[in-house]
Amino acid sequence: MSSNNIRFVVYPGGSLNGDLRVPGDKSISHRAIMLGSLAEGTTQVSGFLEGEDSLATLKAFRALGVEIDGPEAGRVLIHGVGMHGLKAPQGPLDLGNSGTSIRLMAGLLAGQDFDVEMVGDASLSKRPMRRVTEPLALMGANIDTAAGGTPPLYLHGGARLKGIDYTLPMASAQVKSCLLLAGLYAAGETRVTEPAPTRDHTERMLQGFGYHVLRDGATACLSGGGRLSATAIDVPADISSAAFFMVGAAIAENADILLEHVGVNPTRTGVIDILRLMGANIEVLHEHEVGGEPVADIRVRSSALKGVRIPEEWVPLAIDEFPALFVAAACATGETVLSGAAELRVKESDRIQVMADGLVKMGIKAEATPDGIVIQGGPMQGAEVDAHGDHRIAMSFAMAALRARGEVVINDCANVNTSFPGFVDLAARAGLKISNLDP
Ligand code: S3P
Repeated sequence: MSSNNIRFVVYPGGSLNGDLRVPGDKSISHRAIMLGSLAEGTTQVSGFLEGEDSLATLKAFRALGVEIDGPEAGRVLIHGVGMHGLKAPQGPLDLGNSGTSIRLMAGLLAGQDFDVEMVGDASLSKRPMRRVTEPLALMGANIDTAAGGTPPLYLHGGARLKGIDYTLPMASAQVKSCLLLAGLYAAGETRVTEPAPTRDHTERMLQGFGYHVLRDGATACLSGGGRLSATAIDVPADISSAAFFMVGAAIAENADILLEHVGVNPTRTGVIDILRLMGANIEVLHEHEVGGEPVADIRVRSSALKGVRIPEEWVPLAIDEFPALFVAAACATGETVLSGAAELRVKESDRIQVMADGLVKMGIKAEATPDGIVIQGGPMQGAEVDAHGDHRIAMSFAMAALRARGEVVINDCANVNTSFPGFVDLAARAGLKISNLDP
């Protein structure tokens, strides 16, 4: 969102140690605001991610007439307006860098009585939206996009939605969730079938708000016209943010960290499985359930990693963690091969190309393929690399510096604040030799 060029510099010789709690889960934070707004009663959220993405969702719902108190130290109170209580906003809703906000809200707002325009930053304005607007049109929604099927989205109010039976062409929790949220306002049943399991926070949270969602193998199904009842939500730490520290501790010398209270929903734990396949020393401790989501502490110690072929069926379960996993691959012995991951090219940046470019600058053999990458582990040198405004690229290269021989300078890091406010301070406290470079 911010356009000023924040740059990180990371010096060699750091490690990672101690007990850490990374910020709240981004996916769950978005959904808490959305469902809390539509519920009857007051929803209390703790552990909310105070990052730009989830704050964009929060501000959008305020603009839609919902009274929301906070966030204050992760606490948010949402005074729900009920399924039909949202009001027309005064102007366009700005969702910044956040694909989850715009795609989920496209579904949730498609069945309202009023028009809404949704806009985003330069990165979001390039991302594909037809994956949501096409099935929403099948439900009866009336949505305009820019010429290439990208934002801004203009939703015409007053559409009468009907449920559909839809098979997703790609494994995407955003598209699945969009259609389920539209289904709340649709006549009859909405059925969504996914080609591979993706994060199921929407289904779990709907149940938590008392809305029945039937899950039958790869299909999630709900009937429109019900109500949501306010609840309390404890947002666990985001495994996608923890992943940078998991990789960092695995590749660094003399590292031993405990990541506390991390969400370990089985649709999100691909990063643990892939790192273990590579030989990482990871323990999942004290696993228990909080508000319908599994949570655990994760201990990671220095490990000798080896290259692997990543099973394609694991890809959606680690979809946001590949930039960090590519750094692990660069530090492993031998070759790591990823395929079946073309979706990485349409994230906040083209994560295959951008990571390959940066790793090559650090002296690693990394070859992008149309749907993946082949990385040959080896020694890394210091370099100046570009995060292309992508939060996860910036944090991945920060961790790569743990094994580089020289200093690593990372350009265009401002968007780290979308998902991980306080990253530099937390990483520095744990032993990474990182600081912000003055512009
Ligand atoms: C998300 C789903 C994923 C993920 C994104 C968050 C969600 O996107 O990459 O960071 O909260 O539903 P896709 O649905 O595009 O895979």
